[in-house]
Amino acid sequence: MVTGGCGYIGSHTIIALIESGKYDVVSVDNCARSTAEAMRRVKEITGVEVKNHQVDICDRDAFFRVFEEEGDIAGVIHFAAYKAVGESVEKPIMYYRNNLGTMMNVLEACGKYHVKHLLFSSSASVYGDIKDLPVTELTPLGEAFCPYAHTKQICEGMIRSEIVADKELTALILRYFNPVGAHPSGLNGELSPDKPNNLIPIIMQVASGKMTQMAVFGTDYDTRDGSCIRDYLHVCDVADAHVKAMEYLMDGRNTERCEVFNIGSGNGLSVLEMLDAAEKAVGHKLNYVLGDRRPGDVPAIYSDSRRANELLGWHCQYNVHDMMESAWKWEKHVGLELRTKN
Ligand code: WQD
Repeated sequence: MVTGGCGYIGSHTIIALIESGKYDVVSVDNCARSTAEAMRRVKEITGVEVKNHQVDICDRDAFFRVFEEEGDIAGVIHFAAYKAVGESVEKPIMYYRNNLGTMMNVLEACGKYHVKHLLFSSSASVYGDIKDLPVTELTPLGEAFCPYAHTKQICEGMIRSEIVADKELTALILRYFNPVGAHPSGLNGELSPDKPNNLIPIIMQVASGKMTQMAVFGTDYDTRDGSCIRDYLHVCDVADAHVKAMEYLMDGRNTERCEVFNIGSGNGLSVLEMLDAAEKAVGHKLNYVLGDRRPGDVPAIYSDSRRANELLGWHCQYNVHDMMESAWKWEKHVGLELRTKN
């Protein structure tokens, strides 16, 4: 079961689970921040029809009815959550209600329906503002810099508490850095909102002309070129990490009942370096200005993902050019799809 299966990472993970040939997959997603269209795109890419139960996971009874209907669920991959940093600052209660409510119902359902394996979609944002880089799984969590990051910290704590009570359950916490890009076919990608918050969707909207100009949020940071450094990785590499993580649990290779993995490329790139890579991929200059800092940004964060490399046998297959090329292909595809619809 993939909660949030119609979302960006969820839908790419469903594709990877199907292509592994080892799983029957069901999605649960109320499509508040996504569209069931994603299951059509999954079928277009894999040929497999995946059912999405359009249910609000915060609705405990409706969510439990999915388990009654589906029968034996071997594992749950829990993506369903709100994840916009800025929005979480404006609407903290909405974030706590949704992100904690879904987590509680997922954990209660795992106990009630004897689900043995849980993968939790966490985030590098749980580390806070770290000076000692790269970040390892042993890096102490800093103070959450926004309610979104705080919900992820609390959810990780809930999982640790529940595995003490539910002796059947084993869990992996996967802390993603910055997933970007789209499926290489160009047939699935991030359906960002009209006004995206994240760097790559914004770059691609400037490249396609949907946006006339963007800004680099700060060039006076203490980094190699003054702009912020992040650990970008291809969304298909993130999807593959989930397939390998579920195999790790199902093969019983975990040594503890709750383990943490950083899911990052280990390669920090700056905003200006990403813009340079984007211009090479789209084949023309991008219209951007050097603007002021964005509140809440940390200057630099990137991962040490050797634990995932060694224990999960997971390695990034895609580089920054693949990220930009796939994102550009998707931007053109979505543009075309929307144009033919209107
Ligand atoms: C990246 C860099 C910006 C837009 C995000 C989510 C967070 C988490 C990880 C889920 C920053 C700069 C951006 C622009 C810019 N997602 N930027 N101009 O903030 O690292 O984290 O992904 O867990 O919830 O917020 O990613 O893409 O927003 O920004 O200069 O127009 O690009 O300042 O340095 P971020 P981002």
